[in-house]
Amino acid sequence: MSLILGIESSCDETAAAVVRNGSEVVGDCVASQIACHAEHGGVVPELAAREHLVAARPVVNTALKNAGVGFGDLDAVAVTNGPGLMPALLVGINLAKGIAIGNNLPFIGINHFTAHIYAAFLDGGRDDLRKAETYPILALVVSGGHTALLLIGADGKARLVGTTIDDAAGEALDKAAKMLDLGYPGGPVIQKTAEHGDPQKFHFPRSLTGAGGKALPPQHKLNFSFSGVKTALLYHVRREEEAGHKMEGRLLYDTVASYQEAIIDVLCRKTAMAAEEYNVRTVVLCGGVACNSVLREKLPLALPKSAELRLAERKYCTDNAAMVGGQANYYFEKSEFSPLDTDAFARLPLISEVPFVNF
Ligand code: KG4
Ligand code: ZN
Repeated sequence: MSLILGIESSCDETAAAVVRNGSEVVGDCVASQIACHAEHGGVVPELAAREHLVAARPVVNTALKNAGVGFGDLDAVAVTNGPGLMPALLVGINLAKGIAIGNNLPFIGINHFTAHIYAAFLDGGRDDLRKAETYPILALVVSGGHTALLLIGADGKARLVGTTIDDAAGEALDKAAKMLDLGYPGGPVIQKTAEHGDPQKFHFPRSLTGAGGKALPPQHKLNFSFSGVKTALLYHVRREEEAGHKMEGRLLYDTVASYQEAIIDVLCRKTAMAAEEYNVRTVVLCGGVACNSVLREKLPLALPKSAELRLAERKYCTDNAAMVGGQANYYFEKSEFSPLDTDAFARLPLISEVPFVNF
């Protein structure tokens, strides 16, 4: 039995959650900084840190209140310590350390990337992690910071079989929205705008898929690249504007729908290729871009029949603390706690195993 407070501040969401036994989310609170970053068209790390500083305590208090518990009822406090924006991470880490010291609780540092995958097993899904038939798992982590395919075996060993060689898919959506003056964050507004357009109207490149007659280098078979599609969008917009066409109305809708389609097509193709190559039993779709309705609809159609798709719930796709408090239970059960001088890290380290299999 465990009751763990999770804290998340790696990017532009300040979040806290209370999670029972690694799965049951009993209190959950997320404060978004969208309004603050919107005028800059993207996340400004120092502003994010300042916003976290203001929001962190109220968010923790709300999560505890929702759960109907106090610090004294907790068994541990867990926090994302990377990867993410350094100034933003430090706020959550310091708060978590303060709570741990002040309440004599074990402190647990959590990897944000693997937490996104764990998010698909919250609210009762944890039992499936104990079943042999769930493995191998292929996780598509697709967010503003990552686009990666992680292969996870029943022994907990993991291997990154595909990753982006330049931009993440979410970043490509965010930058497109900025280019088209649609606002921030790009993903939701791109999805909404695309609903009115024809996704087949314009052709945008599907890099590293072998489509369009371009050879696919074997070392990039499962890798992603989204910088080309972004450049293609820039040229498309320029071309249309030079021709005297305003990027609005139908032209805007069709452009956005076709752009989104190209990105989703690549995500589906690569995930299906990897699922087939490694004969996986479960495919997990997680991370902020996994909120996208078209991706949620299209991915199951692309996958081999033998693979079962597990979609993280939308509220656990974007950054949240339930995935942090949930994953922490693994370490809690093994009494593997983090030292109080645990540092933050900005970049994704090599992942050779995941902290949620076999417990
Ligand atoms: O997981 P997340 O909250 O933060 C990171 O760890 O990066 O993901 C944020 C990303 C942003 O790029 C945002 O535009 C994208 O998720 N996103 C979406 C949707 N909602 C959020 N992308 C496509 N469709 C959506 N509905
Ligand atoms: Zn994230």
